[in-house]
Amino acid sequence: MMKLKTAMLMGAGLSVALSCTSAFSGEVFSGYTLLKQETREMQDDDFMNLGMEAVTKGAKLFSTKGKNEKSCATCHGEGGKKLDPKRIAQYPVLDAKTQRPITLQQRIINEWTEQLGNAPLKYESGDALALETFVRNLARGQVVNVQTDGAMAPFIEQGKKLFEARSGHLNMACNLCHDHHPGQKLRAQTLSQGQTNGFPTYRLANSKVIGTQTRINQCFKSVRAEKQPVGSEAFALLELYMNAHGNGLKIETPAVRF
Ligand code: HEC
Ligand code: HEC
Repeated sequence: MMKLKTAMLMGAGLSVALSCTSAFSGEVFSGYTLLKQETREMQDDDFMNLGMEAVTKGAKLFSTKGKNEKSCATCHGEGGKKLDPKRIAQYPVLDAKTQRPITLQQRIINEWTEQLGNAPLKYESGDALALETFVRNLARGQVVNVQTDGAMAPFIEQGKKLFEARSGHLNMACNLCHDHHPGQKLRAQTLSQGQTNGFPTYRLANSKVIGTQTRINQCFKSVRAEKQPVGSEAFALLELYMNAHGNGLKIETPAVRF
């Protein structure tokens, strides 16, 4: 079994000998710990952090009046000061209406139409991402704290299944790279746990801010699996599981990654 997995990973370009146990098992760590010094410095300095552009754009949208003459700031305060950062760090949360997990971006997209009367925003569109980046940035430094018990438990379980489901020509699954081999080299990159505490993130390789679900699709593509529609039910479950897996990490939004 292990031999088979090893062979597959080699096929995907893993260049270092593999062992069954990972040095990081049990602990969670942010992708930040694997960054080059210069990339860390870029993330840490708001003047150099290219993701701050999305925060600025989001702040502007937050105080822009919608169709019904209200803005987000009308209800949530100038600069979102009435939004509770600890609450932001709990997303995805159980939606009171649907009793299903809702991602932060989906909640913001709903507010955009329901509270401002605007035309719908597309999931992961520039405006939706900018607003999410702005709101998540309000919670920077807060500890990720997703509910995992009670009504959320079965959804976490479904997300975990998706994280471990094999797909694509290489028959790969997220956990084969991110749970079993963090710290090891894959092509030019060092594998992290695939944590989401920095999202939305400025990705240098893309020269722009991308959301969690776009990043997941990039990983899907790298193992030649079908891209999934962002904003879908399945992606909400995956994002839920991944955020919960990062419980205890500090929010870094906007992180900078290669
Ligand atoms: C007319 C008032 C109003 C406007 C305008 C409005 N919201 Fe809200 N928003 C609310 C209320 C009320 C809640 C529910 C708070 C709760 O559940 O305790 C909420 C909840 C939220 C939440 C979730 C917070 C939580 O407790 O889970 C976010 C994030 C949010 N709004 C962002 C926005 C954004 C971004 C905009 C602009 C696109 C916006 N809101 C516009 C009233 C408003
Ligand atoms: C073939 C190995 C491989 C597989 C399989 C894979 N990834 Fe990744 N993933 C990477 C590499 C390489 C990176 C960039 C370096 C890093 O952070 O691990 C990455 C990065 C990420 C990141 C960004 C981490 C950060 O700190 O910004 C997330 C989130 C992620 N992956 C999620 C997933 C999900 C979800 C799946 C399953 C759909 C998946 N990955 C499957 C190799 C993989």
